[in-house]
Amino acid sequence: MSPSCPVEFSEVEYPQVENQRRQQFWDPVRLALFTLAIAAIIGIAIGIVTHFVVADDKSFCYLASFKITNIKYKEKYGIRTSREFAERSHQIERMISRIFRSSTRGRRFIKSHVVKLSPDEDGVNVLMVLMFRYPSTDSAERIMKKIERLLYPSLNTNQLPLTVNKQSFRITPINSKKMRNLLNSRCGIRMTSSYMPLPASSSTERIVQGSETAMEGEWPWQASLQLLGVGHQCGASLISNTWLVTAAHCFLRNKDPNQWIVTFGATIKPPAMKRSVCKIIIHENYDRQINENDIALVQLTIQVEFSNTVQRVCLPDSSIKLPPKTSVFVTGFGSIVDDGPTQNKLRQARVETISNDVCNRKDVYDGMITPGMLCAGFMEGKIDACKGDSGGPLVYPDKRDIWYLVGIVSWGQSCGLPKKPGVYTRVTRYREWIASKTGV
Ligand code: ARG
Repeated sequence: MSPSCPVEFSEVEYPQVENQRRQQFWDPVRLALFTLAIAAIIGIAIGIVTHFVVADDKSFCYLASFKITNIKYKEKYGIRTSREFAERSHQIERMISRIFRSSTRGRRFIKSHVVKLSPDEDGVNVLMVLMFRYPSTDSAERIMKKIERLLYPSLNTNQLPLTVNKQSFRITPINSKKMRNLLNSRCGIRMTSSYMPLPASSSTERIVQGSETAMEGEWPWQASLQLLGVGHQCGASLISNTWLVTAAHCFLRNKDPNQWIVTFGATIKPPAMKRSVCKIIIHENYDRQINENDIALVQLTIQVEFSNTVQRVCLPDSSIKLPPKTSVFVTGFGSIVDDGPTQNKLRQARVETISNDVCNRKDVYDGMITPGMLCAGFMEGKIDACKGDSGGPLVYPDKRDIWYLVGIVSWGQSCGLPKKPGVYTRVTRYREWIASKTGV
């Protein structure tokens, strides 16, 4: 026998004497105790294994389509960034979520997301993604049956605000690749590596008084604009797979596309992705004296591949108006004190919008705020963007957790001073300008 083989004892080889002694050792009481102990150990082991298998949940995704018959299709439903699409989708998502959450399987449900509303002779066709969390050992088909069993009876009740045609209801499992393709063709969606949607950020402060970004993929549209041989100069926001929006003043020093590169990811070094620049478009009416029209566009030589870490932000409809004191988020690699160094790790802060009337007060910016600008921060100061954050995003999540670019870091008197909030380029004012230059 080779030494590596496991040694096996056969009945025949087992010495008779040993057997005899064992029989004496195993009196009935001992045997009973021993059996009990073994049973307990097996029980505990099964418990532990089950616990881990169950705890190892995986997300399962489905594509559902159905007809809603008690509403009429509106042209604006065809525009995904329109208020009409957002509101109707939100209503549908709320209705579906409520059905799942009110069931015993409620905790299995993660999210529903409308991807398309299309016209139908009887009303509106809905296409939506459904996400669930189930043990990885479960099968997509079995879960689908569970979903159907749960959903069908609920769709019948006339307590629902929307009438769903039951016959039209279809559901199919989709793999994570299909799901990624579906959601990656949208803007403003943040995903973790497990394709779980990220919750709205709970972070509070940053830059001057801020926090480091929690994870890669939290602000996937954030880019760093770097001058070759010099390094990070400005932030920028990805709005399509080739275009970024930034501030015009970032190019005061150098306008040559060949001298610039763009990086993505939550750190400058190492970046998640790197691209060269082929075109820089500075607003024709940019006025450096008064910081008017502080907006520019950057086109990448090679398009980016959207992923969990690189994603575009939505541009708001030009009609969208945020009321004062709306929570918005600013991110950047800028300094954390006035005149401090660039940060390698992306930082974030929650700030609040301030009306132009308040911002133009004599004790604030004394009339320097034009309609193309937007103030955000706090009257008591402290939390603010700072040097190096310029060109970067000021974003806002709608009720469906879709993120919109509402501002571009532009200027401010020092950083975080009381009554000197950050001033941003008001993106809604430039929505048509952006479309005219990029087609986005
Ligand atoms: N202009 C600065 C830059 O080049 C950013 C100004 C933002 N300042 C502020 N206090 N919010 O990076």
